Amino acid sequence: MNKGFRYVFFILGLSSIIQVSILKAETLPQYGDAMHLGVQTCAGSTCHGAVKPWQNSSVLQNEAITWKKYDHHARAYKTLGKERALRIAKNLGIEDPQKDDTCLNCHANNVPKAKRAKNFTLNDGVTCEACHGGAEQWLGIHVAGVGGRKENIEAGQYPTEQPIARAKLCLSCHYGTKNKFLTHKIMGAGHPRLSFELDTYTATQPAHYRVDADYRQRKTWSNGVKTWAIGQAVAVNETLDALTDKKRNRQGIFPELVFFDCHACHHPMSNLRWERRDSVGLDPGIPKLNDANIVLLRVVTSVVDPELGKRIEDDARILHQSSMKGGDATYDAAKTLKQTIQGVVQKINKHSFTGGEMSKVLNALIEFGLHGEYVNYIAAEQATYSIGSVVEAMKDAGMLKGATIKKVKTAMDMAYEAVKYDEKYRPSEFVKAIESIKAAVETEMQISKK
Ligand code: HEC
Ligand code: HEC
Ligand code: HEC
Ligand code: HEC
Repeated sequence: MNKGFRYVFFILGLSSIIQVSILKAETLPQYGDAMHLGVQTCAGSTCHGAVKPWQNSSVLQNEAITWKKYDHHARAYKTLGKERALRIAKNLGIEDPQKDDTCLNCHANNVPKAKRAKNFTLNDGVTCEACHGGAEQWLGIHVAGVGGRKENIEAGQYPTEQPIARAKLCLSCHYGTKNKFLTHKIMGAGHPRLSFELDTYTATQPAHYRVDADYRQRKTWSNGVKTWAIGQAVAVNETLDALTDKKRNRQGIFPELVFFDCHACHHPMSNLRWERRDSVGLDPGIPKLNDANIVLLRVVTSVVDPELGKRIEDDARILHQSSMKGGDATYDAAKTLKQTIQGVVQKINKHSFTGGEMSKVLNALIEFGLHGEYVNYIAAEQATYSIGSVVEAMKDAGMLKGATIKKVKTAMDMAYEAVKYDEKYRPSEFVKAIESIKAAVETEMQISKK
């Protein structure tokens, strides 16, 4: 008998003897109770290691090849052995980044040693189980094919298809948590700035799954606008959690620099781009908090709950103004905003983004841009991802047609060009791109408003 199968049957037997403790679905894979078995366990040729997609299977079965060949997660650990990582480590006084938790926590499936089974190795980087959960308890029913999605999740598979859970998972590494966080010190040592948008990054991760009719029967899959909106709200929650976390939020008496707009300090002085923003209310020459996700949550709420949107704007203005008063004032203002947006993620999740609403969201994204809300590079970058997401969802829903799609594409290319290099970014060029997007969709929007 094939060794892998013997192992599987062993696990099957084991799990029927041992009373499996049901994990709370939202526990991130890194912190769950289950043993992690390693990529080899998932990548058997009869499981997820097929060279080509299986013809008669709705699950592709070649996930491991896609991941290994194309997915950056598979090389995340190797990255820690490269020149840039060694430079960062040297600047921080870290001897070997491939052995240090500071780096491994995001660049590998760094579960505690007691949770690593025989075939487990850190060298595999961000593995299947780093996203799908330690397989100890779900592998049995999963291989035997006796459980549906619900049973798999109850046995500890992480609900990656659900946008809230997925946002928390991805952001745990693409933003940070209370246990792993990139400070300005680590950025200063040379770590790249992190940027993330849930719907866009879900689409850019090389797909090892296919969302077709069969998939939709087995699992729920939210449209791009909802995924995007939830991603923004969860990102704001994570930011406010960090701003109110005494372990992460200070640098001396001031807030950690990592919460600020990087390019407020880091762009060439010959590239003059400061513009007043009413929603911030700060004078020239003052670094501003990076509020890109907050601005985009205001876009979402301007459609979902305009009254709440207004309160977020007011609280955010106070947050901006408190940042110069010091860490305590910032903490208090962040706490207030956190209370204001309590429950907003669930509210968005319950909201159905109909065709008319998608148009409204796109319209709001454009109007915020024309009112100067994307002056910061990071906000412009987020807005570009956001407009891209909404446009794709509208295309999928058949709301944009032939000639319009072409025009929108040309205008989107202008937007991507305007945010291509952060140091060269000019808000006025970005506004021009937004105007072109507006012109391209105007006719369709008028039709869908009727
Ligand atoms: C355990 C940490 C971890 C988790 C969880 C995680 N990522 Fe990543 N991700 C990384 C690291 C580290 C890199 C950079 C790898 C490298 O290039 O060495 C990365 C890179 C990426 C990239 C490539 C970015 C680029 O610039 O090309 C995409 C896309 C991505 N992740 C999407 C996602 C999505 C979507 C999720 C959630 C479903 C997710 N990631 C979850 C750690 C993680
Ligand atoms: C909070 C999670 C997190 C921590 C902690 C972290 N990284 Fe990263 N790192 C990432 C993510 C995510 C990316 C990919 C960024 C992107 O492309 O969007 C990345 C990218 C990188 C890159 C650039 C990779 C490339 O090919 O462009 C290097 C180098 C790197 N990290 C080294 C380190 C080192 C060294 C440490 C420890 C000092 C470390 N990282 C700690 C999340 C993290
Ligand atoms: C960075 C996170 C990440 C990593 C790493 C990852 N996946 Fe996934 N995987 C996802 C997401 C997101 C989905 C889509 C949501 C879903 O169906 O759960 C998914 C979906 C799947 C599906 C469901 C296909 C279907 O039709 O239902 C399978 C099977 C799968 N992954 C296997 C693997 C295997 C095997 C590996 C390792 C070789 C792996 N994944 C690595 C995030 C990840
Ligand atoms: C309030 C101003 C300010 C903000 C905001 C800020 N930084 Fe810095 N940054 C500095 C200063 C000051 C240094 C040290 C420069 C020096 O010593 O030459 C620095 C250093 C750096 C360096 C190292 C540069 C080098 O020459 O090696 C990087 C990279 C960096 N920051 C990235 C970031 C990122 C990413 C952000 C946003 C998350 C950010 N910074 C936000 C002021 C800032």
